Amino acid sequence: MIIEVVIITYKVKAVALDFRGYGVVKDLGKVGFIKGLLPGEEANIKITKEKKNFFEGEIIDLITKSKYRTDFTLEYDNNSLIHLNNEKQLEFQVDITLETLLRNGIKDFKINDIITDNKYYNYRNKARFIARSNPYILLGGYKEGTNKFLEMDHLIQAEELINEILIILKEHYLQEKVIYKDLNSVIIRTNKTHAMVIFVTNSSKTIPLILYEPLLKDSRVMSIYHQHLERKNDSYHFNNIKNYKQKFILDHIGKYSFVIYPDSFFQVNRDVANLTYKKIKDYLDIDDIVIDAFAGMSSIGQYISSSVKGVYSIENNTDSVKSAKESIALNNITNIGVVLGDFNKEFTKYQKRATTIIVDPPRAGLSSDVIDKINNSKIRKIIYLSCNLRSLVSNLKQLTNYELREVTPVKMFFQTVEMETLTYLVRKEND
Ligand SMILES: C[S@@+](CC[C@H](N)C(=O)[O-])C[C@H]1O[C@@H](n2cnc3c(N)ncnc32)[C@H](O)[C@@H]1O
Repeated sequence: MIIEVVIITYKVKAVALDFRGYGVVKDLGKVGFIKGLLPGEEANIKITKEKKNFFEGEIIDLITKSKYRTDFTLEYDNNSLIHLNNEKQLEFQVDITLETLLRNGIKDFKINDIITDNKYYNYRNKARFIARSNPYILLGGYKEGTNKFLEMDHLIQAEELINEILIILKEHYLQEKVIYKDLNSVIIRTNKTHAMVIFVTNSSKTIPLILYEPLLKDSRVMSIYHQHLERKNDSYHFNNIKNYKQKFILDHIGKYSFVIYPDSFFQVNRDVANLTYKKIKDYLDIDDIVIDAFAGMSSIGQYISSSVKGVYSIENNTDSVKSAKESIALNNITNIGVVLGDFNKEFTKYQKRATTIIVDPPRAGLSSDVIDKINNSKIRKIIYLSCNLRSLVSNLKQLTNYELREVTPVKMFFQTVEMETLTYLVRKEND
């Protein structure tokens, strides 16, 4: 018996892009979001999800093509804007930023030019490749907008050394027919010339030599770790493999050196971070005492240290704090105190001495509790670097004792919809 499956298709035209880079359509009686469709383009689509007020869909065939469409196809989750040309990617970020702020009633601020170095590819110094065994180990990522595994030979944003190591591992697994079901992913971090490779597994069993054997002969690989995914005392457990050459790699932002351990947070695009930190310096005075909150390895703290009186870098990850302390010593900086702790608790202790706070929180943004504390403090200036426009906007609305002066979009991640935003707030005069 032959069963015929009929897919119902609809013709639509995109009028805008939403924050995920999906085309917004209004032809079918309610708003729809179509993966991969660019403004001005018409397509026949199928509906993949339908709710009362909106639907989502996928392109079946593209009828008209935007002149801003590139030759790349939207494939991997980490390449969510690769089908749009680079100029338009910058415009997209500025438009979404302004639209989101204005829609939330945030106005009367200066918007600065977007910060970028126009490096479209090979800018990432860290990448994670998901592992699957089918039957031998494959490395790759997820299909855009899904959790379907796709094999990968090259991540366009990653530094060349990352892609070279990816190929070495993949060819080795295929040639040697390596099967290891516990392997969850492989993380590769580089400073362009040297690499750290981390094998992430679902169990604490020591990993077999066959997983990393070809790396032992590669003089560029300085550091090999095994991480198992069970959380211990609020941090993951990492084993340095057989005391391999070096426990860290060294990287740089501007003239500053940074000692990177496997779990230390380091800016993924160091060159655009450099430009962003320069802009942060513009907001500071030599008399300022600064709290560098969510400090990672105190990269912002160290970068600004010569422009201010003193800095307290507060961070809750032990690897990052270790990196911060060692980097500060290496850079001969004497006016930074590094605090290992939860910012939400430590803020109360340090706020009385500080004039300025720089916050660079994870995607969730600042908690209401800490926002209340900031509102009731004497902090004069807030410099807020955000990786999530939604939590930023919500926090800006809550910071009622501060006036938003400047917004600067930062394009760190070409080919993706990920966006960083730098904002500058000043305490209201009558306060
Ligand atoms: C976006 S990263 C910013 C790092 C740093 N500012 C930089 O530019 O390199 C956020 C950092 O906040 C840290 N973090 C998350 N929650 C925290 C908390 N409650 N208290 C202190 N640090 C926290 C994370 O470990 C991470 O290093």
